[in-house]
Amino acid sequence: MHVSLFFLSRGVFVQSYKQYINGKWVNSSSKKTFTSKNPANPKDVLGIFQEGSSSDVALAVAAAQKAFAQWREIPAPRRGDILLRVATLLRAEKKKLGALVTREMGKQYIEGLADIQEAIDVAEYMGSEGRRFFGSTTPSELPQKFCMTVRRPLGVVGLITPWNFPIAIPAWKIMAALICGNTCVLKPSSDTPLCALTYVQLLEKAGIPQGVVNVVTGDGSVVGDALVAHPHVRAISFTGSKDVGAHVLAHAGIKKVGLELGGKNAIIIMDDADLPLAVEGVLWGAFGTTGQRCTAASRVIVHKKVQKQFEHLLLKQVRGLQAGDGMRCNFGPLVNQAALEKTEKYVAIGLQEGATLLFGGKRISNKQGYFHEPTLFTRVHPSMRIAQEEIFGPVLSILTCTDLADAICIANNIEYGLSSALYTQNIRNAFLAIEHLDAGITYINSSTIGAEVHLPFGGVKKTGNGTREAGILGIDEFSEVKTVYIDYSGKLQKAQIDTFVQK
Ligand code: UN1
Repeated sequence: MHVSLFFLSRGVFVQSYKQYINGKWVNSSSKKTFTSKNPANPKDVLGIFQEGSSSDVALAVAAAQKAFAQWREIPAPRRGDILLRVATLLRAEKKKLGALVTREMGKQYIEGLADIQEAIDVAEYMGSEGRRFFGSTTPSELPQKFCMTVRRPLGVVGLITPWNFPIAIPAWKIMAALICGNTCVLKPSSDTPLCALTYVQLLEKAGIPQGVVNVVTGDGSVVGDALVAHPHVRAISFTGSKDVGAHVLAHAGIKKVGLELGGKNAIIIMDDADLPLAVEGVLWGAFGTTGQRCTAASRVIVHKKVQKQFEHLLLKQVRGLQAGDGMRCNFGPLVNQAALEKTEKYVAIGLQEGATLLFGGKRISNKQGYFHEPTLFTRVHPSMRIAQEEIFGPVLSILTCTDLADAICIANNIEYGLSSALYTQNIRNAFLAIEHLDAGITYINSSTIGAEVHLPFGGVKKTGNGTREAGILGIDEFSEVKTVYIDYSGKLQKAQIDTFVQK
């Protein structure tokens, strides 16, 4: 990665990074730059980055298009070998990269390491998929005729990724795209450009040929929009907010679009649940990554019989969270000033709506970074905005229910449908919840977070448009199916006619 030192202020030098287009590290034509800062301490500047332009996107797409002709010809198992090398390189640098994730987006170090582990897992899963990449065969209705499907790559794909899993989510998308034979242009979040560039540098080291993966950093409204509108981009895979997702869909034209959007995920706790276990799950789901996951538990729907006891146990645990730099503490900052202000705004809304503040509710002002207290609201009515809208911060709403049917009704009464969880000891309750919760993911006796890469990931309703990432369905997102008929009868056979001809 070509970098140069840049004078920032008195005595402070930071590195200036380039973009990666056609296998070269280059400056943007815009001549503009932006900085990335450590959210636990914004004085710690990670570097200066290129503010990409639409002409940079055009160059990157052209490079990807050129590279596509060769990359698709490499047999999938050989492409897989390169992805497996990516896994090996990531494993060797796991600690360093995990610390980079923590420094650039703030999550605690064990979660930074988990981000890298997720990237390793998906590299291995998709790398091995090179030796499967299955189509199907089925009999023809006519004799001496063979039917099958084969998978083909799409071409150049545009990948737009968020900051909350700054290496794992680019990895989910890039590994799936590459094994299928596509080439890509990545537009990473401007909050985490260094994570993305560092990951891509590692892809280069693993032997991904020039032009196969390109990165243009910069603003969504410039770089993202240019990618979405580009006529030679065959598909867009976007992870981010509902509003931006709708914008992407509206401007993509006739492209394949994969959307992974927001969530307002609920954990239901029945009166027969193992309460200490449920409390642990709530703490992890609501306050892991400081609530900044689309799978975060932002609502608890607790049976009224155990509400008091649950709140008592939860309060004890929440008090144990230690806000600070994720390298040393278990509760990191929000990603930036806007995220902090959004959290504050929703706390004010909750108070105004008449919810009861049980814990927290304020920004932590004796720290340099974007810290906010873990916050609990109780007596939350399902119709309140804090129970309906995605906050993407450390704010948990506690609602009550009278039975499972009531809980499921409350859980479903939102516009999103990503993750969900139920704590119960009753097998009947468990299966009823699996059947009736409107969500792409349901956990039983486990929190709403912690999806594994070999299973499909995605949601229903306004969480997305039906795409599933990761797992075998990740292959569907980045490939298309060709149906093949081979007639070896030596004569014209007419489907629908020869077999059923009226005598
Ligand atoms: C996201 O929040 O965008 O299941 C992805 C989880 C993680 C992935 C979350 N493995 O929480």
